[in-house]
Amino acid sequence: MTLNVRAAEIKVLFHRIAPVYDALNNRISLGQHGIWKLMTVKWAEPKPEDLGLDLCCGSGDLALLLGRKIGTGGGVIGVDFAAGQLAIARTRANKYPWLDFNWIEGDVLDLPFPDNHFDCATMGYGLRNVTDIPRCLRELYRVLKPGAKAAILDFHRPSNPALRRFQQWYLDKVVVPAARSFNLTSEYAYIAPSVERFPTGSEQVKLAQSAGFGAATHYPIVNGMMGVLVVTKLSRPRHPRWRGQRRKEG
Ligand SMILES: C[S@@+](CC[C@H](N)C(=O)[O-])C[C@H]1O[C@@H](n2cnc3c(N)ncnc32)[C@H](O)[C@@H]1O
Repeated sequence: MTLNVRAAEIKVLFHRIAPVYDALNNRISLGQHGIWKLMTVKWAEPKPEDLGLDLCCGSGDLALLLGRKIGTGGGVIGVDFAAGQLAIARTRANKYPWLDFNWIEGDVLDLPFPDNHFDCATMGYGLRNVTDIPRCLRELYRVLKPGAKAAILDFHRPSNPALRRFQQWYLDKVVVPAARSFNLTSEYAYIAPSVERFPTGSEQVKLAQSAGFGAATHYPIVNGMMGVLVVTKLSRPRHPRWRGQRRKEG
């Protein structure tokens, strides 16, 4: 895995914070992130016996929810480049010995899977952290089977100025102090600027369409402070020439 300097820094950061990552997430989301993750899994439309993918799986929250929804007979592969996070995911998966989980240490910008491999996918708070969003979406598109859906949960900047001010206040006055209590002030100070830089819902939709997804919708949740980008790799690409042929055939 060859990473640029920024990606290598991100990998080290998430490796280092792995032991307290889950506890801190629960604290800063007031326990709500589990609900947002359940919604994300639902949007990915997993079916029994599917092979699911969770990108930037971290300590495994979304992958475990996805695997429980898919059940026996299918499985989930979680990919992350931070070994410390994967070690926690592996331990947590031991609670479900009847389900099939695989944890791969890898770069989501260069996925070690063949084309058209997965039936559904999720990603939580990962797209904002990758160093090349268009490339990540192209890789996701490549490895999904035609007809498969993916749901991507992340922070979002609300369009309402009052809610935007509230979000900034929350990140500065709740998230950073909570991180301070875990001795991780600088590690969590990155969230506010990363939310600022992250494409808005409509920009994410355009990026997904450019990556090849025939259908893409961004659903704002938590008053627009979070959002879920839901994308579908259409069975037949929406191509003007193809649409013309269909009309002629019909
Ligand atoms: C904010 S955490 C999210 C973890 C988990 N999905 C969750 O919702 O709790 C972001 C994760 O993305 C991973 N990550 C960032 N860039 C990556 C890349 N290029 N390849 C693999 N993992 C990456 C980090 O290691 C980190 O575990």
